[in-house]
Amino acid sequence: MGEGHISVLAREVCDALEASLPRVGETPHGVYVDATCGAGGHIAAVLERFSPARVIAFDRDETALERARTRLCDAATPILFVHAPFSALGPTLEAEGVQADGILADLGVSSMQLDQGARGFSFRADAPLDMRMDQSRSKTAANLLEELDLPSLIRILREYGEEPDAPRIARAILDARPKTTGALAQTVADAMSHKQRRKLGLRIHPATRTFQAIRIHLNDELGELDTLLTDGPASLSVGGRLAIITFHSLEDRRVKQRFRKLSRPADTLPGLPIPESERQAPYSLPKPFAKGVTAAPDETDHNPRARSARLRVLERVA
Ligand SMILES: C[S@@+](CC[C@H](N)C(=O)[O-])C[C@H]1O[C@@H](n2cnc3c(N)ncnc32)[C@H](O)[C@@H]1O
Repeated sequence: MGEGHISVLAREVCDALEASLPRVGETPHGVYVDATCGAGGHIAAVLERFSPARVIAFDRDETALERARTRLCDAATPILFVHAPFSALGPTLEAEGVQADGILADLGVSSMQLDQGARGFSFRADAPLDMRMDQSRSKTAANLLEELDLPSLIRILREYGEEPDAPRIARAILDARPKTTGALAQTVADAMSHKQRRKLGLRIHPATRTFQAIRIHLNDELGELDTLLTDGPASLSVGGRLAIITFHSLEDRRVKQRFRKLSRPADTLPGLPIPESERQAPYSLPKPFAKGVTAAPDETDHNPRARSARLRVLERVA
């Protein structure tokens, strides 16, 4: 992503799309959809290797889309930039009258968003507690913490942060109702038990899980993913592929389970003579991505973000 963001698993994403898009130099055809355009790093990699007839790029962060527009202004392939969450992918492709030959979703926040202290995603800089991926939305993380009650905040920290100290941290947050990233980080650090702090060690900041949980809830990241897991496969052409890069187990579990379910042959009732062709699942898990792939050492060595990334791929076969 131009400054700061290095696209994760770009080589593997292109390998995954190899079967569904024509190579550069061949007659352009097919539609590549980037559900999480960011500043366009994966799109640039795809256009170096393939010749889709068009690209449709979603992001709910207008600043990121602006960077992508600038970066990709010389692209020979027409690109439609859509400022919308990827839950709008299904209806948007339908309105455009197209099916996708390749879809990529590279989930979460970009390094660019984390590094811009004023966006309020990180405890590394003290700034207003914002955390909105889409800045045209009105509710910030500070607003959220003003309105939450204790049981709801405990649930959010447990479900989206897998935080063992959720009750004591939630109580401290609601006592302080912090308005800045620094105040939230300090409140969490002060509230965390010695046992949990020891477990985290010096490498992981005590507020890491809390920041992740509040961000996921505020931006409805798992709700968005669930919609993509329904509409994405349905928007593929036959032979088209959906590739998803996840960064934590909450996301990866959902992708794995949904892809497995879609690629399983239909259940049959014992004794009913259903022909093999009708039992075949409409989707498959293509090799070598069937169990998900992770980044090779040559990538993780220069991009620490890649260490937690996992790519899964689904193909529409019927
Ligand atoms: C990891 S970055 C993508 C980087 C991009 N693949 C690249 O190589 O430059 C994730 C991007 O997805 C966007 N995003 C996250 N969730 C989204 C959603 N539900 N709908 C649309 N965009 C989303 C974020 O705003 C961010 O810009």
